[in-house]
Amino acid sequence: MKKVVMLVAMVAFLAVASVAFCNPAAPAGDISMKGAKKAAVNFSHKLHMEEAKISDCKTCHHKFKGEGEPQKCDSCHKEKKDGKTPKFKDAAHKQCKGCHKKSGNKKAPTKCKACHKK
Ligand code: HEC
Ligand code: HEC
Ligand code: HEC
Ligand code: HEC
Repeated sequence: MKKVVMLVAMVAFLAVASVAFCNPAAPAGDISMKGAKKAAVNFSHKLHMEEAKISDCKTCHHKFKGEGEPQKCDSCHKEKKDGKTPKFKDAAHKQCKGCHKKSGNKKAPTKCKACHKK
């Protein structure tokens, strides 16, 4: 009997662990991104996952293979273009503004100052 209980507990543990492994939790707090010139841009995972209903990390973390945690964009996208890797400004504008425009959602900002807030 004890063995059965242990087995059930182990299976349950593995199931939880594998879900956590496939879909790690996004950072809970806001992330402030500051470049050289413009005011910092505030990014909220919570808002994008809950209000904008984006469930797949790979929608933004396009190089994420599902193992461990996604890397920050600026670990690859730097201040200047590097070979095939576009600079952070161009990558961010393309992805952020691109989706905001396409979404047609009035709460998704497309104007400079709505993202680059003081
Ligand atoms: C949807 C949000 C968003 C909008 C709208 C937006 N930006 Fe950005 N911008 C970003 C993000 C994110 C970055 C990358 C993080 C950073 O470097 O600040 C960035 C980077 C930049 C940079 C390079 C970093 C720096 O501070 O020098 C410049 C310049 C810039 N944006 C100018 C603009 C201008 C001008 C507009 C309006 C025409 C604009 N942005 C609209 C999100 C936005
Ligand atoms: C709508 C776009 C978007 C989605 C969806 C998204 N992220 Fe992010 N994530 C970002 C941006 C932007 C950053 C900041 C990158 C930077 O500063 O270079 C970031 C940063 C991170 C970081 C680094 C935090 C740090 O401070 O080091 C982790 C970890 C992360 N995201 C995990 C996740 C996970 C896990 C998911 C899916 C459950 C997810 N993200 C979904 C856009 C997104
Ligand atoms: C591991 C390195 C790496 C990380 C991390 C990364 N990128 Fe990229 N990104 C690249 C490379 C390399 C390219 C060039 C095309 C390709 O190989 O996919 C690219 C291309 C892009 C493009 C397409 C640009 C175009 O002109 O078509 C966008 C948009 C983009 N990245 C946004 C982001 C955002 C936003 C993040 C963070 C949420 C991010 N990337 C994280 C390496 C990375
Ligand atoms: C795949 C689509 C998608 C991508 C990619 C995306 N967003 Fe958004 N974003 C949305 C939608 C949809 C909303 C409106 C959510 C709502 O209904 O409140 C939004 C809202 C926002 C807001 C408004 C928050 C507020 O408090 O009103 C900011 C700021 C923002 N996004 C910044 C960014 C930045 C910076 C990036 C790129 C690093 C980004 N977003 C990438 C879809 C996206």
